[in-house]
Amino acid sequence: MLTAEQNERITRVGLGTPMGELMRRYWIPIRPYAQLLDEKVMSVRILGEDLVLFRAKNGDIGLVGEYCPHRMAQLKYGFPGENGLRCCYHGWMFDGTGQCIDTPMEAPGGTFKDQIKITGYPVKELGGLVWAYMGPEPVPLLPPWSLLVFPNALRQIGIAELSCNWLQCHENTGDPTHSAYLHGHYFKFLLEQEGKLDERAGDEQTHTLYGRMKLEEGIESLWVNGTEHGMEKGINYLKSLGAKEDHKSRHSTVIFPFFTQTGGPNRPRQEFQIRVPIDDTNTYHINYGCYLAPPEIEVPVQEVIPWYKVPLYHDDGRPMLDFVLAQDAHAWISQGPITDRTNEKLGRTDLPIVFMRRQFEEQMAIVEDGGEPMNVFRDPDTMPDLIHGGKWDMKDSAVIGIRRGVSNFRTAYHKGYGIDDADRYGPAMPLIADLMRQIEDLENSPAAGD
Ligand code: FES
Ligand SMILES: [Fe+2]
Repeated sequence: MLTAEQNERITRVGLGTPMGELMRRYWIPIRPYAQLLDEKVMSVRILGEDLVLFRAKNGDIGLVGEYCPHRMAQLKYGFPGENGLRCCYHGWMFDGTGQCIDTPMEAPGGTFKDQIKITGYPVKELGGLVWAYMGPEPVPLLPPWSLLVFPNALRQIGIAELSCNWLQCHENTGDPTHSAYLHGHYFKFLLEQEGKLDERAGDEQTHTLYGRMKLEEGIESLWVNGTEHGMEKGINYLKSLGAKEDHKSRHSTVIFPFFTQTGGPNRPRQEFQIRVPIDDTNTYHINYGCYLAPPEIEVPVQEVIPWYKVPLYHDDGRPMLDFVLAQDAHAWISQGPITDRTNEKLGRTDLPIVFMRRQFEEQMAIVEDGGEPMNVFRDPDTMPDLIHGGKWDMKDSAVIGIRRGVSNFRTAYHKGYGIDDADRYGPAMPLIADLMRQIEDLENSPAAGD
């Protein structure tokens, strides 16, 4: 439970709020780069600020304020100039820093334009995403988190806009046990109700919902640790309480401030789920899918990383619920625009959520004291080419979730299981299914045991 004041501090992201100031210390992914290739000017709302993202004719990208300062036309109606964004009304042009660089029809040779500047935030492309930095200078380095830069991998980017505060999306990652019900019992109920249980989940060994339901058997406690880049957490199981054996599970890794990473070493499917605040009550949710090929298999090079929208409602307005992200998304939205945490009743399964809230509180306090929060990188000489946000230990196979090959629905899209994830809408699915088929063939080949 939080007080109303604590809840305000941890959820609101506007300029000048404690969480808003913390978020503004990070590079934030704002759009798929592929979208910007098709739609050269678009309005973007991030952290409660209305902005315009554009790609100029020379390929430069920029993120600038909403209004043209001439007579306040909106720049979302602008169009690309050679090296900036032109206003639709009288053609004034602004570069990516927000500097006015052309005022056609005003007196030639004057210095009028030099005195005119609007907001301009630095933007960069990495891993098929456009990233923006909206905080104070000096601008930090853009960290090469692993899935953005892994070689020999396929990628696709799923986007969903959710009508709720970003924190309830992100608290889901501190909540490993929700899977047993939301993606287990409830998923089963939904498929049964539609008469699709056998068709969609006939194989109890592979289908997600059976594995998820087992997750609740024999829980002794939850565990959580802070890590260099965020936190890790999981469940302690005891045989005496009904588990198959005494063991410890690890679930998705959390990268501060709003990433979670599913998958793990030797898993073909890796994913970042990134919870970018549009404003206090809307979230831009990115499913960054990365599908790793082992060295024996070479995947085709993707010139541009494709993206797709994840639909969450049927045409008649009913919520879609038959895939994992949709189940999560509707649970989060159902918690309200901003969850009232003054009324919640936390149990033992919420231990990682309590940890996560403390971590946010600590990092907000660091920024309030003028310090540098975690995961801000500044030294190019010590910046690696690839940063693992969480544990990436190939020997750690004792922990559940780290098995090689085609062993569950997320490694068997070629067998039809892609339908259970948002990935099913992705344009790279045929390539991904083919990769999983090749991985299975490799596992089954006589040389695999050598
Ligand atoms: S309002 Fe933009 S150029 Fe006139
Ligand atoms: Fe979930």
